[in-house]
Amino acid sequence: MTLAESWDQYAVGSKPRRATNTKGETSWLNWTQYPDHGPDESVLGPVAGRAVLELGSGSGNNLAHLVMLGAAGVGVDVAPAREGRAREQWGHLSGLEFRTAEATAFLRVTSRSFDVVLSIFGAVWFVDPLTLLPLIRSRMTTGGILAFSHLPPGSQAPRPGKAGMRHDHTPEEWSRMLENHGFGNVSATVLPPPEGQSAGTMLVTSVAV
Ligand SMILES: C[S@@+](CC[C@H](N)C(=O)[O-])C[C@H]1O[C@@H](n2cnc3c(N)ncnc32)[C@H](O)[C@@H]1O
Repeated sequence: MTLAESWDQYAVGSKPRRATNTKGETSWLNWTQYPDHGPDESVLGPVAGRAVLELGSGSGNNLAHLVMLGAAGVGVDVAPAREGRAREQWGHLSGLEFRTAEATAFLRVTSRSFDVVLSIFGAVWFVDPLTLLPLIRSRMTTGGILAFSHLPPGSQAPRPGKAGMRHDHTPEEWSRMLENHGFGNVSATVLPPPEGQSAGTMLVTSVAV
């Protein structure tokens, strides 16, 4: 089975996001595996007028939210089914594109540059950072923000990714790798889970220097 086929199979089993969150909003950004939990898009700074790339954009909900705030968004996902679903729901938004592509393949061929790159339990978790980080940096503007989330190493919670090998790293490991690949101002922390849950969320932000 190819990587795209495996992730397509995973997509079939993933539930669509609720139509509204607890605040009654129809679009929002969620960094964690829990609904209505953790910080919002402010982690990225102001996004209006920014070129934003999401790696492993899934059904596109998080990216669509940023586009509604004025960003120009490109969502890249290796699973063809994801592009179809994302377009169905968000295809009416101008300034939002979805592409079926493997993240490193996309970054190798695109000539575009991005002010913000994000990945929420997405490709940054599933591609060797020593390959991916230099490619991301090469397509980012200096001063741009790279932010991503994934489960912390050692977490016992059910994990996605039978389709791909996960690259779980500690905050110290992320800091070192990012600093070695053209990023600074790294913040890598494990967000505590909501009450009654055991697994936190690794949230990493950094600035392209
Ligand atoms: C666990 S899902 C998360 C999806 C979405 N970010 C979310 O929060 O709902 C991981 C996503 O990353 C995509 N993905 C995994 N490896 C990838 C790669 N190397 N390149 C592009 N997309 C990838 C999968 O197809 C899947 O849609």
